[in-house]
Amino acid sequence: MNTIKYTLSEDHLPKTWYNIQADLPTPLPPVLHPQTHQPITPADLEPLFPQALIEQEVSQQRYIDIPSPVYDIYRQWRPTPLYRARRLEKALDTPAKIYYKYEGVSPTGSHKPNTAIPQAYYNKIEGVKRLTTETGAGQWGCSLALAGMFFDLDVEVYMVKVSYHQKPYRRAMMESYGAKVIASPSETTAAGREILAQYPDSTGSLGIAIGEAIEIAAQDSKTKYALGSVLNHVLLHQTVIGLEAIEQLKMAEDEPDIIIGCTGGGSNFAGLVFPFLGASLRGESQKPIKFMAVEPAACPTLTRGKYAYDFGDTAHLTPLVKMHTLGNSFVPEGFHAGGLRYHGMAPLISHLVQLGLIECSAYPQLSCFAAGLTFASSEGILPAPEANHAVRKAIDEALLCKEEGISRTILFNLCGHGHFDMQAYIDYQAGKLQDSEYNPQEIAMALAGLPSFE
Ligand SMILES: Cc1ncc(COP(=O)(O)O)c(C=O)c1O
Repeated sequence: MNTIKYTLSEDHLPKTWYNIQADLPTPLPPVLHPQTHQPITPADLEPLFPQALIEQEVSQQRYIDIPSPVYDIYRQWRPTPLYRARRLEKALDTPAKIYYKYEGVSPTGSHKPNTAIPQAYYNKIEGVKRLTTETGAGQWGCSLALAGMFFDLDVEVYMVKVSYHQKPYRRAMMESYGAKVIASPSETTAAGREILAQYPDSTGSLGIAIGEAIEIAAQDSKTKYALGSVLNHVLLHQTVIGLEAIEQLKMAEDEPDIIIGCTGGGSNFAGLVFPFLGASLRGESQKPIKFMAVEPAACPTLTRGKYAYDFGDTAHLTPLVKMHTLGNSFVPEGFHAGGLRYHGMAPLISHLVQLGLIECSAYPQLSCFAAGLTFASSEGILPAPEANHAVRKAIDEALLCKEEGISRTILFNLCGHGHFDMQAYIDYQAGKLQDSEYNPQEIAMALAGLPSFE
């Protein structure tokens, strides 16, 4: 049978998340206190995060139970389907087998609720009343707004200004779920006012928005902060994606040669890749797998950044983490894949890249939109601009198979749909989008500002 969708029933939804920290060949470098430069303690993080998430951040336990209230909400849309892209394969005339895990079936249209739901849950059971956060493209903000609605928590979202104006429907969705949305940089925080005084026309960045959200959370004991990517516990929650995909590929009696994901802060990539990579680190994989991270050429954190201790935000309120970074003051061009505009990268992914276990590449946006349309014209789904980076790489790998006359099995994460990103597609079709290359001078300036103590 030429199966297209591999679907798992609700009772096959994984009961645990997978924690790759249990299988790392060498441990992660410690997270450091911003003033003392000594490893931070759980107490340092308590003003911002609930206890359960702090424990998950440092846990070395391989599998962590998904609490049943979280599981029950996951069941609204999980397990998500695994597709065999038969029509795309035919259109490309490739001997490759292409599979994609489709996370766009969640209520907000991306993988982000996979972590928003548990984050809201753990905050709720520890007595928190309000959550603050940042959002780039609006996908994360919508997901936390959704989670806040389910668990009756107030949610305040600092939305990067360029996206606030580009994506009014995302804003409306967050407000429909009851969240308050503020364009960042804003006048409501000292961090925002400082940026506006220096750069009145600032289009914002995730680094700035994170600083604003943290500042508000740190002022009130009943308010905590939630982050949509980068941190270990966020990547942990996303591993339901890969755990399901392993089961679904068994149904297809197939094994991947290549696994691809786009990387902004690294969470959807990790979610798909880590369960496979963990099996390979434990020596349980049947064959070697190539893990490929794809980022935008305009914000090339993994391919052009430095592996160094840096702040997660522009206002220097976060602890210092060792990661690939373009410098916390780097503000990328306002290109349309808003979710990929972050100066840093998840420490876990950075560490695995340093160990040579992940390959990285950067693509300019025009070729990614072209790939997204090729994909839509054969598979019907219009991907989010972020996801187009993974689509581009998957297509390129499939075309390479054709050139070499080899059939490889390619799996990629279609981490979201693009239904709220139509302005980007309109601009692309009208020829208004440009490939904004990274500016080496700006990156050099931002990197010069890295904390120097190593
Ligand atoms: C659809 C989509 N994909 C990818 C990303 C990038 O984040 P991450 O690298 O954590 O998956 C975002 C972030 O907002 C997003 O909305």
